[in-house]
Amino acid sequence: MPTLLEASGTHISSQVLKFLNQPLKLLIGGKWVESASGQTFPVFNPATGQIITHAASGESEDINRAVQAARQAFESGPWSRLTVSERGKLIWKLADLLEANLEEFAELESMDNGKPISVARVADVPLAVDLFRYMAGWATKIEGNTIPISVPYTPGTQYFAYTVREPVGVVGQIIPWNFPLLMAAWKLGPALAAGCTIVLKPAEQTPLSAIRLGELICEAGFPDGVINIVTGYGESAGAPLAAHPDVDKIAFTGSTEVGRLIVKAATGNLKKVSLELGGKSPNVVFKDVDPEIAIKGAANSIFFNHGQCCAAGSRLYVEQDIFEQVVEGVAAEAKKIKIGPGLNPSTEMGPLVSDEQLNRVCGYIQSGFAEGAKALAGGQRIGEQGYFVEPTVLVDTKQTMKVVQEEIFGPVVTAMPFREVDELLPLANDSAYGLAAGIWTNDLSKAHRLASKLRAGTVWINCYNVFDAALPFGGYKQSGWGRDMGHNALELYTEVKAVCAKL
Ligand code: NAI
Ligand code: MG
Repeated sequence: MPTLLEASGTHISSQVLKFLNQPLKLLIGGKWVESASGQTFPVFNPATGQIITHAASGESEDINRAVQAARQAFESGPWSRLTVSERGKLIWKLADLLEANLEEFAELESMDNGKPISVARVADVPLAVDLFRYMAGWATKIEGNTIPISVPYTPGTQYFAYTVREPVGVVGQIIPWNFPLLMAAWKLGPALAAGCTIVLKPAEQTPLSAIRLGELICEAGFPDGVINIVTGYGESAGAPLAAHPDVDKIAFTGSTEVGRLIVKAATGNLKKVSLELGGKSPNVVFKDVDPEIAIKGAANSIFFNHGQCCAAGSRLYVEQDIFEQVVEGVAAEAKKIKIGPGLNPSTEMGPLVSDEQLNRVCGYIQSGFAEGAKALAGGQRIGEQGYFVEPTVLVDTKQTMKVVQEEIFGPVVTAMPFREVDELLPLANDSAYGLAAGIWTNDLSKAHRLASKLRAGTVWINCYNVFDAALPFGGYKQSGWGRDMGHNALELYTEVKAVCAKL
């Protein structure tokens, strides 16, 4: 069993201490306010299970006030009168401020979510900065078309017809805890670029970076009410936001189960809905590839962010001839990973985010064993304190097993051999999900032929977990509706208006 790195060597900076030493409130209409009920909820450090601080627990009354502030900012506030260039500049300014405070955000993210600070520093925060810059650029480029029309029943009449793309209005955004800051950026960026106003509901497990981002939003000079942040639980703050009759669109990232609830809640006023839900992504290794490259790639695809990644390569399929070599290699990689508190600079894998996730992931591993799977690496919780679980490689798995069918959302990969593409393809596509897939081969045409047949929103070839603000991300099948990032994300936040004038 691996030993944990120590918490010693972890250093909490004075900026983070200062931030944590204040009451954490809701941002509504440009002001920091307590929740209407005065209630708060505890924020845990997953490396220790101890409480870091408390944050305001928003409920429907707070959501009502936040939606009202967003509505006012949308209809009559200075936001609606800004030029698109000014709008873009504000988003860019937010990116600059975030970049200037990169170290503080990396620390907060690591403390709150458990992820290694070394990862938050090079991935979470820079990706969020980049996303805001990418979307800042789009603010000035959201265009319509001029359209030649014929209109058969008005012969001889001339028209001038064009389209404009307008902001969809007041947007509710509910985000998860696996990449707390980055998910906020993915959601806020395109909504702001399009000119919407927003009520953001961070996950109750990880509210800290969103609250700190709220401070930067105020500092950047966004008009009051453009971005409102209501922390709180899913049932008490998320549900009323999803159901609110004055919200024009709801964007959600999280579990498929809650995704279904969001869709139902949205029926009242038929608000627009976009969803980024779970995944159970196949990662396919062909025998022509250098096994060492595939081993590193397969390990990264599942162990990055402790497998708490909707796109995680959680189903590994390896061509028979190199199956043993690859899975043993991935198991060896799993055993080498340095596990410890995220704030320890040497940590490569931190704890899972919560007690609930720890139980869920351990429960899945047990169900795998009960159905006959064997662990080549891992299979256990580590220690008694904090929510640590061993990176786990399961073999002797069958396609019908729960561990192969359901999203585990932890560092657990199932591995199965295959003989040929015809046998592989139905297995790879045999999932309710369709978020991502990986292919490892040196055969170009094989790679692209398979990419075209995989039912997934993202296909990585000889790489995995490559994310970029310009690349659309989202799912086929039950992995969701719509795309985050790229210019595709702007479609979620704009309405098309056709204007037709008789000349
Ligand atoms: P969740 O779906 O409950 O939480 C995501 C967000 O939804 C949070 O902000 C939460 O407060 C909110 N929420 C919860 N119930 C709600 C409701 N009734 N109405 C409106 N908002 C609500 O996810 P949870 O329970 O934290 O994780 C469960 C599983 O979901 C994970 O094991 C994983 O399989 C999946 N998941 C997928 C994510 C992704 O990136 N696609 C992210 C997080 C979880
Ligand atoms: Mg939940």
